[in-house]
Amino acid sequence: MIKQESKLEFGAKIVRWFEANKRDLPFRKDRDPYKVWLSEILLQQTQMATGIKYYNKFIKKFPTIEKLAKANEETIYSMWKGLGYYNRANNLHKTAQRIVKNYQGAFPRDYNELLGLPGIGKYTAAAISSICFNSKKYVIDANVYRVLSRYLGLNTKINKAGSYKYFETLSGELAKGIKETGTYNEAIMDFGSLICKPKNPKCEICNTRKTCFSYINNTQEKYPLKEKIKKKKIRYFNYFAIQNEDFYLMQKRSNNDIWKNLFEFYLIEDKSQKNAQNVFQVNLNLHKNVISYEETTQEVSQLSHQKIYVSFRECFIKGKRDFSLIEKLLKLKRIKKQKTKNYGFPKVIDKYLKYKS
Ligand code: ADE
Repeated sequence: MIKQESKLEFGAKIVRWFEANKRDLPFRKDRDPYKVWLSEILLQQTQMATGIKYYNKFIKKFPTIEKLAKANEETIYSMWKGLGYYNRANNLHKTAQRIVKNYQGAFPRDYNELLGLPGIGKYTAAAISSICFNSKKYVIDANVYRVLSRYLGLNTKINKAGSYKYFETLSGELAKGIKETGTYNEAIMDFGSLICKPKNPKCEICNTRKTCFSYINNTQEKYPLKEKIKKKKIRYFNYFAIQNEDFYLMQKRSNNDIWKNLFEFYLIEDKSQKNAQNVFQVNLNLHKNVISYEETTQEVSQLSHQKIYVSFRECFIKGKRDFSLIEKLLKLKRIKKQKTKNYGFPKVIDKYLKYKS
């Protein structure tokens, strides 16, 4: 799959580059799992400079995991301010408490055991177990996706199911012969941040360029490939369940749209429910008194390409004559309440009818 010679050279070259150029980071002074874990959690979704600031603050206040476990929640939250994603702060505290309680304060060495701790996912478990305990687990983050995609010219889209595993395997192949997986993992992270950067990579000083697919073919900008995630269209359906004792007034969906040929209530599409209600009243052209309204449920319908907020309003029509008038005016069809099972409805309408019967 990968040309043998480029495979063999990559890991060694990256590690060689790292030994000469690694960043002097405060959590790299030793391989203390508490420090490595804390730094990895703080660095998620955070720039390195910001992460370091918070790391220094946390390590000063909580030099040991016991101190962090014993801290009160408010202190942690107040120190976390500015980082966002507060459930990460919560998980940080929980993991510290678990390690003190269940592991006598010593981090488990095993990747799978690490994975079982709150807030520790595949990336963090691989980082801790490889850097501190020399496991053969490869970290996959944005740096790794980019560096490997460029170096090998990979046309695999990085945000597709299965990509994580694929890159994990590839990274392992590239690191063959490297004894310290943790060093290789850190090397590729620094290399991605300093040399093989997202914009303007420094190919002119890169020691892997002779065997790099993208340098040779000038495809640095093309990689990594990502599947475009289409934005879902958001719609607001306001249904008016017009009815009397025995019948609903409904319509068949016929336009070139979702739920074609299925039955639904009278529909007004509008973001504002109040607006929809006003439009309904005007369309009806009848005195307010002939109808009694009742607000009912709200639903969200998640389709692959649309998200629909659905609201229902029950509208009871008092007189038979008015009922017929509305039926004609809005071109609706009367459907006996007991016979609804003979018709096809979109899921949200089906649910509503079941709930009402
Ligand atoms: N970004 C997140 N963790 C890192 C690490 N251990 N080394 C370099 N960059 C990182």
